[in-house]
Amino acid sequence: MISVVVIGSGNVANHLILAFCENKSIDLVQVYSRKSTFFPDCLSNSKITHDLSHLVEADVYIIAVSDNAIAEVSSKLPFENKLVVHTSGSMPMEILDNKNQQGVFYPLQTFSKEKEIEFSKVPICIEATNEKDLQLLNNLASKVVDKVYSISSEQRKSLHIAAVFVSNFVNHLYKIGNDICIEKNVPFEILKPLIEETADKINFLSPSKAQTGPAKRQDTKTIEEHLNSIKDENQKEIYKLLTQSIINHG
Ligand SMILES: NC(=O)c1ccc[n+]([C@@H]2O[C@H](COP(=O)([O-])OP(=O)(O)OC[C@H]3O[C@@H](n4cnc5c(N)ncnc54)[C@H](OP(=O)(O)O)[C@@H]3O)[C@@H](O)[C@H]2O)c1
Repeated sequence: MISVVVIGSGNVANHLILAFCENKSIDLVQVYSRKSTFFPDCLSNSKITHDLSHLVEADVYIIAVSDNAIAEVSSKLPFENKLVVHTSGSMPMEILDNKNQQGVFYPLQTFSKEKEIEFSKVPICIEATNEKDLQLLNNLASKVVDKVYSISSEQRKSLHIAAVFVSNFVNHLYKIGNDICIEKNVPFEILKPLIEETADKINFLSPSKAQTGPAKRQDTKTIEEHLNSIKDENQKEIYKLLTQSIINHG
């Protein structure tokens, strides 16, 4: 049995709490939040604290707070020589106060409190300063997900940049697609099978092989017509930039 304390009450903390609550070989002993009392039903009220000085003994302390607050929260922990990890994609492990053993437990997924996910499919990237802690994090992660990766802070930073491209930027492009549909009074729903097939396709083909469209074919007349039709300057810039990137780099 691995005992865990989760620190935070946001998107990631809530999904971790759910995953740990449902697992019989993990003992979620406590959750700290500054003020929130809104947690998954599986967490009993007696396990919630709003005071860092009341934190109880655990094998692992997971700090799932905003990137900006990780260092401050880790320095306020009232104990030493415990394993304390953060969940950030971009922050180095060393941002954690070194009075405790530092580590990372980064679930590579987009989490919103309101949206359920199949947690076992989330890859978890772990990092630690020694083999024993890495093994403990590997054991913990393996209890809740299928795939665990040992990743350095430098690799994780690049992975996070890649994640911004494939998730946040793609989602922003959905937003632009939605705006165009609204403007022309067409339901965005029509695009959903295309969105789903585009995502599914990369399970079978490399992203370069899966690419289609006017830029890939270098159909310059179509590209020109699109650019003439797009009135919004921001959309036009993004269209030009992505078209050129596909032409130059595939
Ligand atoms: N969301 C994702 O998709 C995702 C995916 C992977 C990793 N991550 C990483 O996971 C971490 C948490 O992200 P999130 O999306 O869960 O954030 P979030 O939903 O915005 O929640 C942030 C949490 O940080 C707490 N917090 C902020 N400043 C604090 C402080 N000074 N002292 C104590 N608590 C403080 C907030 O508490 P209050 O409610 O009291 O303000 C809240 O519980 C970040 O490092 C993020 O990079 C996020």
